[in-house]
Amino acid sequence: MATPIRDTPADSITPVVERALADRQDGAERFERASEIATRFVDNIESVIYGKRDEIKLVLTALACGGHVLLEDVPGTAKTVLARAIAGTIEGATPSRIQCTPDLQPTDVTGLSIFDQRSRDFEFRPGPVFANVVLVDEINRATPKTQSALLEAMAEYQVTVDGVTRELPSPFLLIATENPIEYEGTFPLPEAQLDRFFLRTALGYPGLEDELKILVEQRFVHPLDELRPTVALAEIHELRSSVQHVYVDEVIHRWLVELVRTTRDHEAVVIGSSVRGSLALERAARAWALLDGRSYVIPEDIERLFVTVLVHRVVFTPSFVARARASSWEDAIAEFRATCLELAPRPGSEEDPIFEHPHA
Ligand SMILES: Nc1ncnc2c1ncn2[C@@H]1O[C@H](COP(=O)(O)OP(=O)(O)OP(=O)(O)O)[C@@H](O)[C@H]1O
Ligand SMILES: [Mg+2]
Repeated sequence: MATPIRDTPADSITPVVERALADRQDGAERFERASEIATRFVDNIESVIYGKRDEIKLVLTALACGGHVLLEDVPGTAKTVLARAIAGTIEGATPSRIQCTPDLQPTDVTGLSIFDQRSRDFEFRPGPVFANVVLVDEINRATPKTQSALLEAMAEYQVTVDGVTRELPSPFLLIATENPIEYEGTFPLPEAQLDRFFLRTALGYPGLEDELKILVEQRFVHPLDELRPTVALAEIHELRSSVQHVYVDEVIHRWLVELVRTTRDHEAVVIGSSVRGSLALERAARAWALLDGRSYVIPEDIERLFVTVLVHRVVFTPSFVARARASSWEDAIAEFRATCLELAPRPGSEEDPIFEHPHA
């Protein structure tokens, strides 16, 4: 049992207090360093992709949490450039790209063992999934068999071929793209597969001024050719470990779970978000806070990430989907989010019956 502090001799209290102060100092320095790394990372990518700082921050959020990203976008919105820019920003990171087609075999992704005549033995040829940043273009054009080979890689950070399990490099970030306007000849990702994606976002068209800037800049060279790495591989690991130490208050934790649970009882929903969704939302909020230069999560982080982290895990009723498609998907989702937030109001808000509003 610990000795009560009043019984502890004064000269032995001093080291305890000093250690506590030093720990706090270390923590503060760690957060400062991590947020500087994050800013350096985002700034470098912004030198090739304009007007998309929030979207770039979301992808970094996934990377900092060891998650994967689903980009749902129309053609020509810099998805490929984004994946190449991420790999190009991290010193020593290897990029790779997989173009999905219906005839793509699982071993085209994972690699396979080939018999070497000279050594009279099987030799493993790693597939394109063995890279730090893997862009999987048009994932819904691959067959379910190939999709599930990707699933193992995404979930386990390893690949099993011919009964042998091999680890993927670390960090491992998979960015899959899906074209939302073409459905013909595609294999929609099953819900279980969607749940493996840490977040779903879109890059979307740039603004007018940004598009003008793109035209001018790309006249002679592509800015990607001039991109230089600015973040060390070890710094990504540092960022990841700092995310684990971001503070989340108990009150926010409870509210987050309540909020996720509202997606399960909603009238427009067949299957709500999984527990994996709660875990992802909590982690994402911690990383997002860090990217914002904070060592603690605030309710706004969770509200900002609600749609990006949870909605692709939710299966809506056919009537909701039909209504949303007929008007606007964005508006329907915004309405869905608003009702969830009404059912589980953020702590400290006027609708929250338990907590007193600080300004009341
Ligand atoms: N926001 C942006 N900032 C800078 N460049 C952009 C932006 N959006 C598009 N571009 C430019 O548009 C071109 C097309 O981008 P990219 O090839 O990455 O598109 P994509 O989304 O991968 O398309 P696809 O779906 O057809 O594969 C690139 O030259 C890219 O630099
Ligand atoms: Mg592309």
